[in-house]
Amino acid sequence: MSVSVLMTGASGTVGTALIRHWLHSGDLDRGELKVTAVTHEGGRTESGRVLPRHDGIRVVRGEITKPDLGLDPQALAELVGSTTHVCHLAASTRFGAPLEEIRRVNVGGTRHVFELAERCPRLQHVALASTVFVSGRRTGRVYENDLAHGAGFVNTYERSKYEAESLAHEFTGRVPVSVYRISTILGDSRSGSVQHYTAPHQALRIMSLGLASMLPGTPDYRVNLVPTELVAAAIARLILRPPSEIRTFHLAAPDEKCFTLEEMIETGYRQFDRLIPGWSRRRYPKPAIVSGETFDRFMESVEETGNPLLGGVMGALRHFAHQLLYPKEFDLTNTAVSIPGYEERVPDVRGYFGRVLETCVRTRWGSGVEGE
Ligand SMILES: NC(=O)c1ccc[n+]([C@@H]2O[C@H](COP(=O)([O-])OP(=O)(O)OC[C@H]3O[C@@H](n4cnc5c(N)ncnc54)[C@H](OP(=O)(O)O)[C@@H]3O)[C@@H](O)[C@H]2O)c1
Repeated sequence: MSVSVLMTGASGTVGTALIRHWLHSGDLDRGELKVTAVTHEGGRTESGRVLPRHDGIRVVRGEITKPDLGLDPQALAELVGSTTHVCHLAASTRFGAPLEEIRRVNVGGTRHVFELAERCPRLQHVALASTVFVSGRRTGRVYENDLAHGAGFVNTYERSKYEAESLAHEFTGRVPVSVYRISTILGDSRSGSVQHYTAPHQALRIMSLGLASMLPGTPDYRVNLVPTELVAAAIARLILRPPSEIRTFHLAAPDEKCFTLEEMIETGYRQFDRLIPGWSRRRYPKPAIVSGETFDRFMESVEETGNPLLGGVMGALRHFAHQLLYPKEFDLTNTAVSIPGYEERVPDVRGYFGRVLETCVRTRWGSGVEGE
């Protein structure tokens, strides 16, 4: 049986890793799988740099904020006729974006994708990428089958992804959807490569510059990080063979394979010392772990300095750091049942953190300039 995947967000961290996975597994080469990547105007794929050229990969121009993804009628008719699986990864991942703007992409875009999927006669499955942080300000153990809560959210991104997941419930019975709640991706655990430099990388960058004098949270907060290839392998497996009864999967690390916040700071400092010549001579004090109120006062004082460089760098922290005040553990039952050996296969962050940090330092956090 041939599989025809309509993929949004193919140029992102998860999309490129998934395509890489299918190239390595041979699925694309054997011709059993075809991917149509919907990429949007002004997006990263316009230059054609990101996606590999392959007979099994077709790129069409689209825009998820528009009905029918803004596809031209011919491309739309072809896609509706051929699609067997939809992999909806596209999202605005700007944590601090205004709510209406991020809703347009993450909620409106998801609705358009579901509406298109509903019209595909050969459709078997829709995969929706979500985040473990749809749990917002909840604390404690979070189960995969839980969604609704009134705890609130740390940023507009979390809220918009929660609303997108709620849409999946609205479409139950109309499209077969499974939801992949991804934890924070750090990079490829084998090569240390990083596709996009996101919140955790920026936090480490701020520390390397000696600018993170404080972080909110508690020392024993578990920082849940996962490697790119693990997420790609899990989605690749589950999207083609979705268990019939399970709808939501946590793609996260078990607690014992995660750093505590204190341990991450300690390890980061040791690694900077190893990777950046003369770093230890700068004697940057380690960030103090403080209450939310103290951290907010600190951020206000940074803003008051009016220093645009400092404000810009620290702004990256503002929209996600509060999540460190809501310790939680992500239950992995559904994923472990569906992927035997999943928990054993998750690499311990202690084993690959240094490799990823090496990439961050060498590329100057993605600036393209190599060296310290
Ligand atoms: N990376 C993580 O740590 C992480 C963690 C939890 C959940 N997730 C979820 O996993 C999914 C993939 O994340 P990612 O890290 O791969 O994201 P990413 O690297 O930020 O890439 C986002 C993708 O969405 C596309 N996109 C954005 N706006 C679009 C629009 N209006 N129309 C069409 N395409 C649009 C982008 O296309 P262009 O390249 O053309 O701009 C890009 O391919 C998202 O749903 C995200 O919420 C990611």
